Amino acid sequence: MTKNYVFGDVMIGKEQIHKRIQELGAEISRDYKGQSILAICVLKGAVLFMSDLIREINVETKIDFMAVSSYGASTQSTGVVRILKDLDTNIEGENVIIVEDIIDSGLTLKYLKDYLLARNPKSLKICTLLDKPERRQAAVTADYIGFTIENKFIVGYGLDFNQLYRNLPYISYLEEEKHS
Ligand code: IMP
Ligand code: MG
Repeated sequence: MTKNYVFGDVMIGKEQIHKRIQELGAEISRDYKGQSILAICVLKGAVLFMSDLIREINVETKIDFMAVSSYGASTQSTGVVRILKDLDTNIEGENVIIVEDIIDSGLTLKYLKDYLLARNPKSLKICTLLDKPERRQAAVTADYIGFTIENKFIVGYGLDFNQLYRNLPYISYLEEEKHS
């Protein structure tokens, strides 16, 4: 049986996202003052967040990208994490910040964190735009969180449903269509 989904309202608007990212950038810049960082974007969902965030950071910043398997055509996490694209950079001795779109079950980040820690970075922190703590299955917490949200299926500003809606400049959500 296929479910139909409809758009909810705008959950977090463009200006609100921008303002929060300025705050996160300022916080990261303070925390790493006089040091350099390597920001690792988790593709594809974090790409908009990453590009806006690094423009608000004023310490030496390098970037790299990783792609891991995510949901297929479903809205539920499978718990299976596969590396689809690995880093180009050697992270040994680097101050790594993983930049994610959302922490849901936490399974992806738990895996990524352990995977990257094994390569001996100087430090490793997590920066996520969104956090859905209600759905957590693996014990991971982010060091920098844009917005803590309730349990809804989010689309927009990088986040997709079946690869669509990543280009929306605001954050919205999908709801199951209600039949009367
Ligand atoms: P995890 O359940 O924390 O492992 O989340 C894995 C990935 O699923 C996230 O990095 C997102 O790319 C995606 N994801 C989780 N929740 C949502 C959502 O509400 N909308 C769109 N993608 C999501
Ligand atoms: Mg993702």
